[in-house]
Amino acid sequence: MSTAIPHLQIAIDGPAGSGKGSVAAEVAKTLALPVLDTGLLYRFVAWQVHENNCPIDDEAAIKTLVEQQLSAMDWRSDGIFFDGKDCTSRLRGEDVGALASQVSALPAVRQQLLAVQQTLASHGCVMDGRDIGTVVLPQAQAKFFLTATLRERGRRRWLQLSDQAKRQQTLDDVIADIQARDQRDSERSHAPLAQADDAIVIDSTIMRIDEVVERVLHILQRRRLIH
Ligand code: DC
Repeated sequence: MSTAIPHLQIAIDGPAGSGKGSVAAEVAKTLALPVLDTGLLYRFVAWQVHENNCPIDDEAAIKTLVEQQLSAMDWRSDGIFFDGKDCTSRLRGEDVGALASQVSALPAVRQQLLAVQQTLASHGCVMDGRDIGTVVLPQAQAKFFLTATLRERGRRRWLQLSDQAKRQQTLDDVIADIQARDQRDSERSHAPLAQADDAIVIDSTIMRIDEVVERVLHILQRRRLIH
């Protein structure tokens, strides 16, 4: 077990399937820091948009909806709770992920979620997402950008699918979905998926999660951010 310096903020960004969520969770566990998966927040908004039949292009209506629903939402290291109920597993599906990629392009949504993320991160955390090192926590003491080839990221996502889902979606379907999501996330005008200038890039294509975690911890140690 290592100890982090007080209020250490570690930003881990990367595209879908890059392993950032698993790496963030392991690093946080080792350092006894909260882990905050920002993708879940956007997934929560997408889920609410869907449940309330809100048109995806009606930014004003979505803004009002988010304002209302955020007060009943609790975002924690172990997931998202809504009206006191754990809805995390409901948010993990590829369908919610694809809709999240669309709602996350709306500036009003990003603006609303920015304050939520910055407030929770203020006492120190490992936070993963797309724009953490660039927009949410530009002052984070450590920033990592995880990548892997499109094919490998698709393979990882496909392996996570249930047997039933695998009968409906081939590996090529999953790869095509991820490619579309990469493009949307990287090309949106507001806070796109981007690597911060001071981020350390780790290509995890041929690395196991524990090897990536070890590299991250080694870098933090070398920089005297943990001991
Ligand atoms: O990491 P994920 O697959 O759970 O994220 C779902 C979508 O949410 C992703 O396609 C883009 C969006 N997202 C974002 O725009 N900014 C973040 N910091 C995290 C996620």
